[in-house]
Amino acid sequence: MAVGILLVGGMGTRLMPLTKHRPKPMLTVAGLPVTEHQLAMARKAGITTVVLATSYLSGLFTPYFGDGSRWGMKLLYAVEDSALGTAGAIANAAQLLQTEDSIVVLNGDVLSSHDLSEQIRQHESNRADVTLHLTRVEDARAYGSVSMDSSGQVSAFLEKMEQPVSNIINAGCYVFKPEVIKEIPRHRVVSVERETFPQLIDSGGKVRGFLDDSYWLDIGTPKALLQGSRDLVTGIADASALRSADIAHHDAHSLIMVRAKMDSSAIIEHGSCIGIGATIGAGAYISGSIIEDGAVIGRGAKILDSYIAFGARIDENANISAQFVTDSEILSIPA
Ligand code: GTP
Repeated sequence: MAVGILLVGGMGTRLMPLTKHRPKPMLTVAGLPVTEHQLAMARKAGITTVVLATSYLSGLFTPYFGDGSRWGMKLLYAVEDSALGTAGAIANAAQLLQTEDSIVVLNGDVLSSHDLSEQIRQHESNRADVTLHLTRVEDARAYGSVSMDSSGQVSAFLEKMEQPVSNIINAGCYVFKPEVIKEIPRHRVVSVERETFPQLIDSGGKVRGFLDDSYWLDIGTPKALLQGSRDLVTGIADASALRSADIAHHDAHSLIMVRAKMDSSAIIEHGSCIGIGATIGAGAYISGSIIEDGAVIGRGAKILDSYIAFGARIDENANISAQFVTDSEILSIPA
């Protein structure tokens, strides 16, 4: 049975200041940390043992996820004192697994509804060294682009560039043969995107592409984080994690977590979610937004396409549009 590694150690600079006190994978989308949605996806593919490869704000994962038994999983934690890069993190985390089974690695900032079971199945039946989930995007400039021959062999793996070789991109979910991970140099910064994959391709390694165009989103920017949350609430993205969540109400327009104190005259729509214990005053209007646990929204406030973080308070009749609001800062979300 395949086992997993979740890469959750990055600094998430594009999401500052939200990531100042919480790592990106612990930010909530559709009422739950991004990581919880990813664990549900791994669980659905039969993966029950996962190492969280942590570095930046590493101490914030264990209090929430514990040993994973709440989700019927076994969770282990690898901590990098200083970030080792994506490949360095994989090599470090794999030491906790000691396995001969396939190792599935997930970037910790992706929402994907692709068929992970089939990706693992193809990897094993092809006896590949690595099988990469690939997806197509309209504009590949912000991603690593990939070319693949007709047999499914990846022939080029190139990092972000102005003129990408194709619109097929690395979707950030890899199945590895354990031997390949053992070859990654230890105790230094190594990148899978810049070193491991290009070198493996150059040396004739069997690097296969698994092209699956199901729902996929990199939630690394503020706009995408909100989009991801809306897509989970409205059912565009696979929201398996919500099945075991503490939910008071969920329909195609909104998700309300337990203990939220909602005035009955408030309107919540366009995929908004209201976190545990949040307070929503009379006549408030909330559209396309994330209201995190414990946030307070005053009477008559209007919140559009915004992220109201844990513990933030919004004044009565305030008008908030495309903003991040924390308990101490307000920042515009770039279009
Ligand atoms: P930005 O700074 O906004 O680019 O975000 P990021 O820090 O998350 O970097 P990036 O999006 O390139 O990282 C992709 C994934 O790999 C994310 O899930 C990161 O948490 C993770 N990651 C990146 N670098 C490291 C690392 O050195 N160690 C570990 N454990 N994870 C990493």
